[in-house]
This record gives sequence, structure tokens and C-alpha cells, in this order.
Amino acid sequence: MDGNGRWARERGFARIRGHEEGAESVRDAIAGCIEAGVEFLTLYAFSTENWRRPKAEVIALMKLLERFLKKRTPELMEKNVRLQAIGRLTDLPAACQRELHCSIEATAGNTALTLILALSYSGRLEIIDAIQSLLREIELGHIDKAMIDPETFSKHLYTRYYPDPDLLIRTSGEMRLSNFLLWQLSYTEIFVTSKLWPDFRKGDLLDAIRDYGNRQRRYGGI
Ligand code: FPP
Repeated sequence: MDGNGRWARERGFARIRGHEEGAESVRDAIAGCIEAGVEFLTLYAFSTENWRRPKAEVIALMKLLERFLKKRTPELMEKNVRLQAIGRLTDLPAACQRELHCSIEATAGNTALTLILALSYSGRLEIIDAIQSLLREIELGHIDKAMIDPETFSKHLYTRYYPDPDLLIRTSGEMRLSNFLLWQLSYTEIFVTSKLWPDFRKGDLLDAIRDYGNRQRRYGGI
């Protein structure tokens, strides 16, 4: 969800105002996914690298997340959205973790869309955590190291309950992965738009999905 800071700067606002407007685009993205019949939406909301931002911005972002979860959980219920989260969630402030777990629990039975928030997330750390988890299983004798293949490995990632993404949307024209779902994006189609995340609304998401519909996916075949 890139470009919140630039969106705010262009208007002479503080960066957090851009993040607040970005939270409105989150609501639009949820509505668009439901309309298009998308079953899983993963939002890269906060990376492990984002902790290096100025303290005031980090605190404001965590407060915004906490407020969003508190205020929008009834809306998630109404829209039949199940909330999930991936990343090093114990890095988050206690109040944020509480709201997150409340919302995850409340929405657990919802079936229209699974919304996965990547929070304190790093693709590289996720792979390292998967390796640690595999090593523990090997030590316990639960798996044989000769049995490790991509499918076994995937079962040790944070995303083990979800399919690999079909489409990656990158806003604000950035042409990089920024440590996001490094394993899972192997065959994902990429859509880059110059729109800043706060300007990326439901119609833009539906356009991106339509564009994806015209792609030919060959998975390395012909
Ligand atoms: C990247 O833009 C955005 C973030 C690090 C935060 C994203 C958070 C939100 C959209 C709001 C809260 C999230 C939820 C799920 C309610 P940037 O700050 O790097 O923008 P810039 O590149 O223009 O500076």
C-alpha cells in the first residue's frame, strides 16, 4: 500500500494524514474484492523495516491500525469478511495485538473474503522461520530431511493456510518486491500502477483484476 507519504506531501499534510486516507482505500479494496469474487486479499500494512521510521510515525501508524480494527470489525462482520494476520505479530504494541486477536476471533466464521494483514512482516524472516520450524520437526523425528520439497516447505510458512497469490498489485509506480511474500510470489502476475495508494480506489482495483483476466499464465510451460 505504497504512496501514502507522497499523497500527503503533495497536499501539504503530515504523513499520517496519508496513512489515514490509505485506510479508506483499504475499505474500498475489501469492497472491490467482494464484488469481484476474490477469496483472499493480503495487504502489506507494515514491514519489519518500517520499524526504522521516525518514532512518531510508527506510533501513529500503530494507533491507526488499532483504531481501524476497533471501528471496522462490525463492518467486517456485516460484509462477511474473515480477518487473519501474518508476520512477527508479537512485535506489535500490546493494545494492537489485543484488537487484532479480538477481530480475528470475532470474524473467524466469516466466508465471503479472507483479509490477511501482513504486520511486522518480512519475506526473508518468514523463510528463516520456516527453516527453523522444519529443523525442529526433523529433530523430533516427525519428518525426514529427504522429504523436504516445495510443498512440505510451504506448509511451514505463515501463509500455510492460504493459496499463493494470483495477482500482486503495486501502487505508486515502485518496481520492486520490498521483501513481500518472496516464496509465494514465484508465479504471481504483477500489476504496477502509478496511482498512490490513497488514490487507488474500487474502480482501480476492478481494472487491475480485469487486466489480470487477460493474462496468459504458463507457469514456465508453453
Ligand atoms: C507505505 O506508504 C505505507 C505504509 C508503511 C503503511 C500502510 C498503512 C495503511 C494504509 C493504513 C493502515 C492499515 C490498515 C490495514 C488499516 P509510504 O508511507 O511508504 O508512502 P511513501 O512511499 O509515499 O512515503
